Amino acid sequence: MLVPSAVAAILFARWAFGAHPYAPQQPIDFSHRVHVADDKLDCELCHSGARRSPVAGIAPLERCIGCHKYVLTPHPEVAKLRRMWEAGKPIWWTRVYTLPQFVRFDHASHLLAKVGCETCHGDVASMDRITRVVEPTMGACVRCHRERRAPDDCLTCHY
Ligand code: HEC
Ligand code: HEC
Ligand code: HEC
Ligand code: HEC
Ligand code: HEC
Repeated sequence: MLVPSAVAAILFARWAFGAHPYAPQQPIDFSHRVHVADDKLDCELCHSGARRSPVAGIAPLERCIGCHKYVLTPHPEVAKLRRMWEAGKPIWWTRVYTLPQFVRFDHASHLLAKVGCETCHGDVASMDRITRVVEPTMGACVRCHRERRAPDDCLTCHY
């Protein structure tokens, strides 16, 4: 019986100490599945920086209100959105993907090279809550840079 209980202990440890991917709760329960899969909105409608800058950016509340002045106004999360907007408060979304300060990253280069968002962020269109399903490790970056013949010297990604 030693073997099965050892396996169980390892599984429990993995479950208890963060083997599941990171998926923080957000100040407003925003669903990508609803907006991307159901409503067919393009990623760049809300992440327009991705085409031209290092950061993808997140659309300001004003963009949300453009629709939600009319759409689904009785929904409690939409009501919360309107209250934040009316109070003129900025919204602080909790970051899901981050790199250390000493790493250089650029969304625009990847978009231009046709590396799809899902390569690094998974199937966002099916997610109700953003989950960090792909870890942005140096190994993963370098592996693809070699495959794609993108530059792989240290200074490409480090200051
Ligand atoms: C182009 C229009 C449009 C924009 C822009 C938009 N939404 Fe929505 N939103 C919708 C529609 C349509 C629904 C789904 C209505 C339905 O099918 O019940 C929805 C649903 C929602 C819901 C409730 C339903 C759910 O399951 O999540 C929330 C909360 C929400 N949106 C928040 C936001 C936030 C926050 C933003 C800005 C980042 C935003 N929306 C931008 C159109 C929009
Ligand atoms: C209607 C607006 C809207 C659309 C369309 C949209 N997003 Fe988002 N996205 C958001 C908002 C708001 C957040 C911050 C809240 C959250 O994490 O759910 C976010 C967060 C993210 C994050 C996490 C950023 C981080 O590290 O904190 C990723 C990755 C992302 N979106 C990718 C995508 C991709 C890929 C698509 C297209 C398949 C897409 N988004 C379409 C509004 C949108
Ligand atoms: C080659 C991998 C890769 C691709 C492709 C990629 N991302 Fe990212 N994304 C990252 C990494 C890594 C971070 C964290 C960056 C940091 O901390 O500086 C990030 C951060 C983000 C963020 C939060 C910070 C910010 O830049 O605003 C959003 C939103 C986002 N990505 C959306 C997208 C969308 C939408 C696409 C497709 C148009 C996309 N990403 C394509 C790797 C990628
Ligand atoms: C799936 C493949 C893929 C992954 C994963 C990937 N990259 Fe890239 N990266 C590319 C390609 C292709 C280019 C474009 C090279 C070019 O323009 O010649 C690029 C370009 C870049 C550039 C701009 C280089 C320049 O000199 O213009 C930086 C910086 C960069 N990547 C950093 C990263 C980092 C950091 C990660 C990991 C978090 C990463 N990349 C993950 C494929 C990838
Ligand atoms: C394509 C992008 C890319 C290239 C090329 C790259 N790195 Fe990195 N490096 C990263 C990313 C992303 C991280 C942070 C994530 C991690 O630690 O895996 C990192 C982390 C590191 C760290 C910190 C590791 C730790 O455990 O804290 C060191 C040291 C490092 N890189 C050195 C180098 C050296 C030396 C080279 C050249 C031989 C190099 N890197 C080339 C992307 C890159």
